[in-house]
Amino acid sequence: MISGELSGSEMDESLNAIRRNAIRAGNTTRAILDQASSDATENTQMDLARTVEACLYFLKPRLKKIEVVQDLSSETHWVWGDENQLQQMFINLLLNAVESMNGKGTLRVSGTVFTRGATGRHCLVIEDSGKRIPETLRTRIFDPFFTQGKAQGVGLGLFVAQRIVTQHGGTIRVDDSQHLKGAALIVTLPSNLPKEHYRE
Ligand SMILES: Nc1ncnc2c1ncn2[C@@H]1O[C@H](COP(=O)(O)OP(=O)(O)OP(=O)(O)O)[C@@H](O)[C@H]1O
Ligand SMILES: [Mg+2]
Repeated sequence: MISGELSGSEMDESLNAIRRNAIRAGNTTRAILDQASSDATENTQMDLARTVEACLYFLKPRLKKIEVVQDLSSETHWVWGDENQLQQMFINLLLNAVESMNGKGTLRVSGTVFTRGATGRHCLVIEDSGKRIPETLRTRIFDPFFTQGKAQGVGLGLFVAQRIVTQHGGTIRVDDSQHLKGAALIVTLPSNLPKEHYRE
């Protein structure tokens, strides 16, 4: 037999091993995606602005060389949502911003409340001084496993973030930052407060 050539049974064995690994990888992927889209939520009345602040505090070690500009005001951004999930969503966005600046630059976090009758919509914007996101990629970056320009990227951060925002009845989109030279991630969430929590 020529060195490197496989016999029939060796070829069968190799193909079986490839098939087993492909099935295992498929199962792992499905488990990750199921986890990311889990419907198990624990909703409470929470203030989005305070949640973002808690995330910034949590990420403090990653923000040492970053100037953080907060324009969240003292306004209360009441929403009815799952605090852990919304924290996870903001952390994914903040980490992307930090990574896009290679850990050095300016990060801007701002919030606006739009009221409409008794309910409201809250818009939270995370902007960075890193790279802008070209228009051709603005939909694709939310696809599972889409990653670009990172050695360690898995490509699940924005996919998970979008799932969480959608499950809360909101939207997430990308634009150029109006204040800095990089990207802006714009999250809009409805209050969804049960009637007994309505405030003037
Ligand atoms: N603020 C941003 N500025 C520039 N590019 C961004 C920004 N946020 C996301 N991207 C681009 O979108 C891609 C997808 O982001 P996503 O968070 O889903 O995956 P990732 O960061 O590569 O990996 P993971 O979050 O799973 O570790 C990134 O790889 C990056 O190219
Ligand atoms: Mg990411």
